[in-house]
Amino acid sequence: MRGTGFLLVFCWVLGLLASTSFCGNVTYDHRALVIDGKRRVLISGSIHYPRSTPEMWPDLIRKSKDGGLDVIETYVFWNLHEPVRNQYDFEGRKDLVKFVKTVADAGLYVHLRIGPYACAEWNYGGFPVWLHFIPGIQFRTDNEPFKAEMKRFTAKIVDLMQQEKLYASQGGPIILSQIENEYGNVASAYGPAAKSYINWAAAMATSLDTGVPWVMCQQADAPDPIINTCNGFYCDQFKPNSNKKPKMWTENYSGWFLSFGGPVPYRPVEDLAFAVARFFQLGGTFQNYYMYHGGTNFGRTSGGPFISTSYDYDAPIDEYGILRQPKWGHLKDVHKAVKLCEEALVGTDPTVTSLGQNLEAAVYKTGSVCAAFLANVGTQSDATVNFNGNSYSLPAWSVSILPDCKNVALNTAKINSATMIPSFSHQSLKGNIDSSEALGSGWSWINEPVGISKDDAFVKLGPLEQINTTADKSDYLWYSLGIEIKGDEPFLEDGSQTVLHVESLGHALHAFTNGKLVGSGIGKVSEDIPIALVTGKNKIDLLSLTVGLQNSGAFFDKTGAGITGPVKLKGIKNGTTVDLSSQEWTYQVGLKGEELGLPSGSSSQWDSKSTLPKNQPLIWYKTKFDAPAGSDPVALDFTGLGKGEAWVNGQSIGRYWPVYASPNGGCADSCNYQGPYDSSKCLSNCGKPSQTLYHVPRSWLQSSGNTLVLFEEIGGDPTKLSFATRQIGSLCSHVSESHPSPIDTWSTDSTSGSKLGPTVLLECPIPGQVISSVKFASFGTPRGTCGGYSHGQCSSRTALSIVQKACIGSKSCGIGVSVNTFGDPCIGVTKSLAVEASCT
Ligand code: GAL
Repeated sequence: MRGTGFLLVFCWVLGLLASTSFCGNVTYDHRALVIDGKRRVLISGSIHYPRSTPEMWPDLIRKSKDGGLDVIETYVFWNLHEPVRNQYDFEGRKDLVKFVKTVADAGLYVHLRIGPYACAEWNYGGFPVWLHFIPGIQFRTDNEPFKAEMKRFTAKIVDLMQQEKLYASQGGPIILSQIENEYGNVASAYGPAAKSYINWAAAMATSLDTGVPWVMCQQADAPDPIINTCNGFYCDQFKPNSNKKPKMWTENYSGWFLSFGGPVPYRPVEDLAFAVARFFQLGGTFQNYYMYHGGTNFGRTSGGPFISTSYDYDAPIDEYGILRQPKWGHLKDVHKAVKLCEEALVGTDPTVTSLGQNLEAAVYKTGSVCAAFLANVGTQSDATVNFNGNSYSLPAWSVSILPDCKNVALNTAKINSATMIPSFSHQSLKGNIDSSEALGSGWSWINEPVGISKDDAFVKLGPLEQINTTADKSDYLWYSLGIEIKGDEPFLEDGSQTVLHVESLGHALHAFTNGKLVGSGIGKVSEDIPIALVTGKNKIDLLSLTVGLQNSGAFFDKTGAGITGPVKLKGIKNGTTVDLSSQEWTYQVGLKGEELGLPSGSSSQWDSKSTLPKNQPLIWYKTKFDAPAGSDPVALDFTGLGKGEAWVNGQSIGRYWPVYASPNGGCADSCNYQGPYDSSKCLSNCGKPSQTLYHVPRSWLQSSGNTLVLFEEIGGDPTKLSFATRQIGSLCSHVSESHPSPIDTWSTDSTSGSKLGPTVLLECPIPGQVISSVKFASFGTPRGTCGGYSHGQCSSRTALSIVQKACIGSKSCGIGVSVNTFGDPCIGVTKSLAVEASCT
C-alpha cells in the first residue's frame, strides 16, 4: 500500500516536472494490459530507430500518433550498440535513449524488444559477430558463455533505461519488454536444452526488475509471469497459455520485406484491416503492426543474405516518411472504430455466435455498454445478416464494427480514406558542377586493384570459410593463387579448353584470371568458368562477398559463406583436373579502398584527368553535388550502375544492386484481398530491378558541395545517376452509397438523423497546398483504380462540374455520395462516386 501511495505522489511530482509523464503501474490480467489500474486496448506499431534518422523520428512518431497508435515498438540491435566487446555506441541513429524519449514526448508508450536476438532482416539477427568467436559458445541454448553474454547485454540495456527513468514504473513510457524472439519456432532443433534455456531467459529477465511485464513471442511454453504472444498474418485464433494472461499480437505484418532479386511484396489494406478487426472481435486487446514504418537498411545492416537496402515493407508510413494512402488512413479509421468499443472490450469476454455459414457475431456487453463485431469470413460471397432484429450487409472477407451493437461505424472492406499515388520527379545530379573536373563529367575515380594489394594479406592452406576469416569487417574477401603453366601442359591447347571450377557457399563471387573478370556467381555456386591461361605465370583471383549475414532459422549463426571449395582447373578435352583446394592461397580481408578510407572521399589519388572509365569492374567513383531544392525526401536512382555500396558525405546509404531483377512470373495485375494472405500472394515489379531508388536522408545533405562516393564491383556508368524526389501525385477517392459515414461523424444517436451519410473526403496532405484540378469524377458505376478510373454504364453528367466546384481552390472538400448531390443516373442500382484530383 505504502508503495502505491509513494508511486502516485512520485508520478504527480514527475508530472509537474516533465511535459509528458507516464504513471505507471503496469500489470496484466486475463483481458488486457492494466495501466494504472485500467485495462487498456492498445494499438502499437514497429519503428526500428536505426532504420531512419533522429531528424526523422519526431515526424514519424507524430504521424504514428495521428494514425491512432498508442505504442511504438522497437527491437534493440545488439551489434549496433556493441560493435566491439565491451565498447558501447549509442550515438546518432543508435541513440536509443533519445528515441524512447522522442516517443514519450509525443505521449506514446514504448514496447522495448531487447531480445537480444532480433531476427528483423538485420545483419546476423542482431548478434555481434564477435560473439561467434567466444570459445565454447553455442547461441540461443543452455550454454554458459552465451547466457553470460546475453545476460550482460540485456542487463546493460535495462540499466540504461532505468538510469534514464524510462520504465513506466519510474514515470517513463516503456510499458512492456520482450526477451528472446520467436524461439518457439526453432526450439525443437535445440533438443531438451531449449526448455532450460527458455526457463533461464524468463528468470533472468524477471530478475532485472523492470517493473513492467515481459513477453515472449511465439513461445507457447513461456513460463509465468512472461506473457506468450502471437506473431503472424492473422492471430484471431490465438490463445495465451494461461487464462491469467491477455491475448496479445506482437507482429501483424503490414506487408513483407524485399530481397535483392525478388519482386516487391504488398498487403492490401482491406485484408490487413480484416485481420485487425478479427483479432479484436475474438478477445484481443493489444496488437502491433510489423512494420508501421519500415525505413532503410543503411550501411551494411541488412540481414539475409540478400535483404535489400529498402525496408519499406508496404508499411502505413513509407520508407521516406510519407503516409501510404489509403493504408494509413483506413487503419486510422479502424483504430477509431475499435477505440469506440474500448470500454465494452475490456469489460468482458465476447459472446460469439454463428449467423450462418462463415458468418460470425461477437458481442461484448457489460453494464450499459455494448459493442459488436460482425464478420463474414467467407472468401467468395457477400452476405446479408440479421443481427438484433436489424439487417446488415457484409462483403466477403470483412468485419463490421458496431460500437453500440446497432450502428455500423466501419466495415473493413469499405474504404473511406483517400488514396495517394506517389510520384518521383527526376533531376540530374550535375546541376552546377565545375565542368573542369573529369572532362566535364564531374566524376573522379580510383581503381581497386584486382587481387592482393594490402600489407595484411596472409597465406593459408586450402579455401577458407569467409565469416570466420573476415569476422564481417568487410563484405569482401580475396582468394588469390599463382599458378605456373608449362608449355606442354594440357590446359594450354587453347583458352576455351580450360575451365575454372569454383564451389562457394555464397553470397556472391567474381572470378578474375590474369586481372580480367571472367565470371560471376550469385548464391550458392558450383560453377565452371571458361578461362584462358598463358604459358608461364598465371594469377587466379577470386573475390567472394557477403550480402548481409543470415538472420533467421535454427543455428543460423553457423551458416557459412565464401569459397569453401573445391576449386579445380579442368581441361575439358582430355578430362585432366588439378585440384587447387590443396594449395596455399593468399587472402586479403576487405578492399584497398576501404583501408585508404575512400568512402569519406579523402585521398590524394582521385583521378579526374583522363577519360572517365565506364563499365569497368572494381572501381571507386567520386563526385560533388548540390542537394535538390526544397524539403521533399530524396532518393538516388542507381539505374546505370551494377552492384556496390554508396556513401554520402561519408555516411553509407547502403548496398546498391540495381541490375538484380526479379523473375518474370508471379505478379498479378491486381491482388484479390479476399482470402488468406501470405508473403507470396501479392507481388509487384516482376521482371524489373528489385531496387533502383536509394534513400538519402535530408539531414545527411548540405545545400551544396556534398560528396558522393561509390564502390562499383561489376561495372556501370556513374554519369547516369540521378536524383528522385518523392512527391505526391494524384489524390483519389472512391466511395459507394453503401459505405458507412466518415468515422469522425460517428454518433450513437441514431434518432437524430443528422448523420452525414457516405462522403468523399479529399484533403491535400502538404500544408499550404490546395486542390488545383479534378482530373476525373464519376457518379454511377465507375470502374478502375486511382490513376485509371473510367466511366461505367451508368454515370451522372454533372459529377465533374459539381466536384470541381466543391473542391478546386480548397485545401479539403467533402461531397455527399448521394442522389441528393448528383441526381439519379440509374434508379435501383447502388452507385458510387470516384474522384481523381491533384494538389499544388
Ligand atoms: C518474424 C521475426 C521478425 C521479422 C519477421 C519478418 O519471424 O520475428 O523479426 O524477421 O519475421 O519480417
